[in-house]
Amino acid sequence: MAHALHKSNNIGGIQWKRSNYSKHSTEKWRRCSKKFDSAEEDSEKRKIVFDIADNLAGHATIEERYFYPNVRERATEEDVKEAYDEHLEIKELILQGLNGTERPGFDGIVAALKGTVEHHVEEEENEFFPKVKKLIDEDALEAIGQAMETEFEEIMAEGAPRDNVRVESEKPAAI
Ligand SMILES: [Fe+2]
Repeated sequence: MAHALHKSNNIGGIQWKRSNYSKHSTEKWRRCSKKFDSAEEDSEKRKIVFDIADNLAGHATIEERYFYPNVRERATEEDVKEAYDEHLEIKELILQGLNGTERPGFDGIVAALKGTVEHHVEEEENEFFPKVKKLIDEDALEAIGQAMETEFEEIMAEGAPRDNVRVESEKPAAI
């Protein structure tokens, strides 16, 4: 399946990876973010924020478990460190957002979350991933991508990954 997809798209491993797990995070994030803008009721906003939090939490977990540890040793130390820092910032904003839609400053927290995620995604896509693609061979990237996709699906199926964000942000992933 992975190979067929990789072949049919004629793309490198890292893009293959993106075309799968990022479908669940980046695109989902953009959809949710638009939905949030037009949401009026607090209950609706809360639901969207839960959805956003689950997807971002899943994204952070699989990257921190598979992607970053695999690439950090190969001359990408600075990028990996920056990515961990940004994940931490995102997690802290998620936690604030999960405190409740009725809290003062809620819309501002979501706006900050949006800005941080957009910046993170842009850096990963335009700077970090292309660099990694030059450093790691396609087969290895494909294996990493597949592990990430499988894990992401398991994490999402297990329930609410947003519930892990508090522990993860109190005890950040090793930088
Ligand atoms: Fe990330």
